[in-house]
Amino acid sequence: MKLVHLQVACAENRVIGRDGRLPWRIPEDYQHFLSQTAGQIVILGRVCFESWTRAELDGRRPIVLTRNRSLARDGVRVVDSLPAALALAETLPGEIHVCGGERIYAETLALGRPLRLHLTLVHAQVEGDTRFPEWRHLRWRELSRQESADANFRYTFYVLETL
Ligand SMILES: NC(=O)c1ccc[n+]([C@@H]2O[C@H](COP(=O)([O-])OP(=O)(O)OC[C@H]3O[C@@H](n4cnc5c(N)ncnc54)[C@H](OP(=O)(O)O)[C@@H]3O)[C@@H](O)[C@H]2O)c1
Repeated sequence: MKLVHLQVACAENRVIGRDGRLPWRIPEDYQHFLSQTAGQIVILGRVCFESWTRAELDGRRPIVLTRNRSLARDGVRVVDSLPAALALAETLPGEIHVCGGERIYAETLALGRPLRLHLTLVHAQVEGDTRFPEWRHLRWRELSRQESADANFRYTFYVLETL
């Protein structure tokens, strides 16, 4: 079984999204996300998929969770559950990166299988309607941590792995 990677940027109050979009623009984090997931399998919900541009889709193998089968097209696979997405991902070359949203993150954290969390923690309280589930109570080993900032935000890139 492949290791499952989770990709998320979340605020201190666990907010990750607002009105179907990211609640911030942090170019360094965006580039970080693109380089981490380049060439890999990305599992994402339908709302995320609809917000992704060509820059995010190109060079990745998206598996979209939705009841709407008609979203399937060349290079875009569609499934209706996380277990189906993971089973399909096992048959494809590349790493598995779970990219949200909220319910998909929650189901992934509850899987009880080895996870590597690529977390950008944005050191701010941010308004939004979508949250990353509480993760701090789970047991993690910290593989790396890098502090950074731009004109608007301070943030930390963490890589954590389940114990
Ligand atoms: N900061 C970050 O790192 C980050 C990461 C990801 C997302 N976001 C933000 O979060 C928001 C989007 O996330 P969201 O939670 O609202 O939506 P989402 O997960 O992207 O999409 C929700 C839809 O996906 C399908 N779906 C989700 N979970 C499913 C499951 N377990 N089984 C089957 N189908 C499932 C359903 O599609 P159908 O209704 O079509 O059946 C559902 O309506 C946006 O604001 C986005 O910018 C932020």
